[in-house]
Amino acid sequence: MNRSLLSVEDFSLSYGAVPALHQVSIRIARGESLVIVGESGSGKSSLGLAVMRLLPRTARMTTGTIRFLASDGTSHELTTTDATILQRLRGKEIGMIFQEPMTSLNPVYRIGDQITEAIRFHEALPRTAARDRAVALLAHLGIAEPERRMAAFPHELSGGLRQRVVIAIALVCNPSLLIADEPTTALDVTVQAQILDLLKRLRGERGMALLFVTHHLGVAREIADRILVLYAGRAVEEGPAAAVIAHPLHPYTRALLQSVPRLGMNKDEMTLPAIGGAVPDPAQVPHGCAFAPRCPSFRSGLCDAAPPPVTTFGENRSVRCFRAAELAA
Ligand SMILES: Nc1ncnc2c1ncn2[C@@H]1O[C@H](COP(=O)(O)OP(=O)(O)O)[C@@H](O)[C@H]1O
Ligand SMILES: [Mg+2]
Repeated sequence: MNRSLLSVEDFSLSYGAVPALHQVSIRIARGESLVIVGESGSGKSSLGLAVMRLLPRTARMTTGTIRFLASDGTSHELTTTDATILQRLRGKEIGMIFQEPMTSLNPVYRIGDQITEAIRFHEALPRTAARDRAVALLAHLGIAEPERRMAAFPHELSGGLRQRVVIAIALVCNPSLLIADEPTTALDVTVQAQILDLLKRLRGERGMALLFVTHHLGVAREIADRILVLYAGRAVEEGPAAAVIAHPLHPYTRALLQSVPRLGMNKDEMTLPAIGGAVPDPAQVPHGCAFAPRCPSFRSGLCDAAPPPVTTFGENRSVRCFRAAELAA
């Protein structure tokens, strides 16, 4: 029986008539960290939002299931479970850090009230006890003078501090799964490294699983147990992080790695050197391999004829490329 904490099976999604995710499957065990990597537009945020069932109304799920194992041992199909159960799971068992940090904070409330409310929404805790926990958490997240910061409004904080507050809200009920959608992308490199260190430390302390989204393989390498590479809404490669990075099996992963910025580079260096071409318009993805038009080194006639099948290597690596065996050799 599948006892993964989160298992997304065969999940497809469209916005109106335009497909965004194609039969994507992911599994995350308790305490495990899966990083989803891909360029902008590959469907990473859509996948995270689907797990939280926070997709816009225009989004339509066309195939698949999303199962989550709650801390009481009950299993829930998140795409169909009723709203009250979902509300109980969101925030309490599944925390989320959204891609836009400012949208997750309400500009008109003090941050202390926002963290305290997040606690009291899920736990019957007196206001003072909730406040104490919020202050302790801010201190734990490396925020100096947490008492004083509680009274600040979001716009009064630096980007790094604001992101720590967002993380505090996501973590305040000790979720077993944290979904973090590009949580460091908007930050400068020094702060980015600090936030990654913080997330790594928190994972270790709490045994929390992580679904981490980034367009940046350098970031993935820092925090992933496993990596899933998404291209134009398709999972093109998946495996243990160290193996995928040391020996990528899909031409797209290779191209991403060649363009990978490392922590410590300055902001200009951080812009990804271009992989030729762009992610296809989702309404006009090629019939064969979606990456074929950008794949100068390995493309063959086969690649334009039909979508490549999944090839597996060992128990835990898979790749969707006709030439996977050659790349693996
Ligand atoms: N609300 C939306 N309405 C229509 N299309 C959307 C919406 N959100 C995302 N998309 C489309 O879905 C695809 C995947 O987007 P997204 O999940 O945001 O990717 P990523 O997070 O990897 O950049 C893109 O083609 C994007 O234009
Ligand atoms: Mg996104």
